[in-house]
Amino acid sequence: MSFLVDNPDVVRTLFTRDQIADKVQEIGAQVTADYAGQDLLVICVLRGAATFMADLVRAIDLPVEMDYMCVSSYGNGVASSGVVRIVKDLDCDIRGRHVLIAEDVIDSGLTLKYLIRNLESRSPASVEVAALLHKHREGAVESKYVGFTCPDEFVVGYGLDYAEKYRNLPYIGVLDPKVYEH
Ligand code: IMP
Ligand code: MG
Repeated sequence: MSFLVDNPDVVRTLFTRDQIADKVQEIGAQVTADYAGQDLLVICVLRGAATFMADLVRAIDLPVEMDYMCVSSYGNGVASSGVVRIVKDLDCDIRGRHVLIAEDVIDSGLTLKYLIRNLESRSPASVEVAALLHKHREGAVESKYVGFTCPDEFVVGYGLDYAEKYRNLPYIGVLDPKVYEH
């Protein structure tokens, strides 16, 4: 048994390492075409989007800049707390810049809604979102770039965690509810 390969807490693999790699290349190519000739700043929403962001920027064939923001809406559980808090703000000024937010998963959309409103108040040239996963729940924000539609289950891997674990799984899978149901 291996933590990475046949993790006993993952009941089902949703997206394999290869499927994710192909999808990230696809999104990167779209971003490259859409932002050619523009000043692009990719913002990583820590910590879940760090893995996606690292691969995405290497699939964007443009001179991008990166910055990082850490927001928290989730504590260590599996349901949104409803409260979004900026734990770490951007280091750079985004005024007049084209901003692309890299997000791991859009679930309720609460985190992103807050983030978009917050960033728009800083007068950027534009704000768009690239989300690897979208659960397409009612009322959730749309995203210009979406990798995969995700079933309404709690998933881990490729940056996504449960209680800070499983982020280093190279694939995305459904976490066994036994892990979080006591
Ligand atoms: P939202 O505000 O409900 O859209 O939640 C967004 C954040 O919650 C994401 O950026 C993730 O960090 C976390 N999250 C939502 N669903 C999952 C999941 O299935 N697995 C791991 N983290 C999740
Ligand atoms: Mg996140």
